[in-house]
Amino acid sequence: MSLPNLAQAIAWASERFDKSSDSPKLDAQVLLLHVIGKPRSYLYGWSDESLTELQYTQFKACVARREKGEPVAHITGTKEFWSLPFFVDSSTLIPRPDTETVVEYVLGLGMPKSIRLLDLGTGTGAIALSLASEQPNWDITAIDYSEDAVSLAKRNQHALDLPHVKILQGSWFEPVMDAPLFDVIVSNPPYIDPIDPHLSQGDVRFEPLSALIAPENGFADLRHIIENGAQYLKSGGVMVLEHGYDQATVIQNFFAQFAYINILTIKDIAGCDRITVATKP
Ligand SMILES: C[S@@+](CC[C@H](N)C(=O)[O-])C[C@H]1O[C@@H](n2cnc3c(N)ncnc32)[C@H](O)[C@@H]1O
Repeated sequence: MSLPNLAQAIAWASERFDKSSDSPKLDAQVLLLHVIGKPRSYLYGWSDESLTELQYTQFKACVARREKGEPVAHITGTKEFWSLPFFVDSSTLIPRPDTETVVEYVLGLGMPKSIRLLDLGTGTGAIALSLASEQPNWDITAIDYSEDAVSLAKRNQHALDLPHVKILQGSWFEPVMDAPLFDVIVSNPPYIDPIDPHLSQGDVRFEPLSALIAPENGFADLRHIIENGAQYLKSGGVMVLEHGYDQATVIQNFFAQFAYINILTIKDIAGCDRITVATKP
């Protein structure tokens, strides 16, 4: 059997992904690098190096899974977020680049060196652990309802060596009912309308509905967090919520209804409305 070199393997897989993926070449590259266990730069210097028989067998298995629609991140078991490697699995959402808008906004607030921050629906821990990596003195608590997601977030916490972040299981504010008030509350909660046709397309087919959908056309969890969050925020504390590109007006109205001030929507890197922020008076 003749074994392909790296460039040939990528070309072959890209062609197979052509119809099923928006990024066929990138998917092929990420899967190949996963199999050979090398960094991205390796592809530039060593593209004519041949795969071993074992690597070729493993790569073909990865390609077959991707062709069936499985997300690349589930095949490799990891996803980069805020330039950090996060383990991912089917217990929660694969972190999205859009969510880096939350991290960027919070870091840009110019908060003091020691604040208390709460991340609701932490999933992999993407937001909480990224913030902790930038601000080691912040007192950060992260909560998720899913026990499996909590285990995953703790695995990421361990791998990223951020032991001071508190990761708790429970529903929204329940685990911090008796905790001191927070300076910042962030959340990327489930916000997709349960009848949204996109739920049957792409990566989301492989992600749990518990991380994706919310009743009331996708607004129930966002409304719950806004309505109840004020009692967990200090006066002058800030809430930062991710939401769908077409949900900003409703979220702004919720914030106004529950007497928050300085209500502002910010776009993500793709130019879509992505987060709305507000202050407790
Ligand atoms: C959209 S995912 C966000 C995950 C992660 N924060 C991120 O940005 O990648 C929403 C998360 O909220 C969690 N969740 C759903 N209902 C919850 C509840 N009642 N209390 C706490 N977390 C909940 C889900 O398990 C899921 O991990």
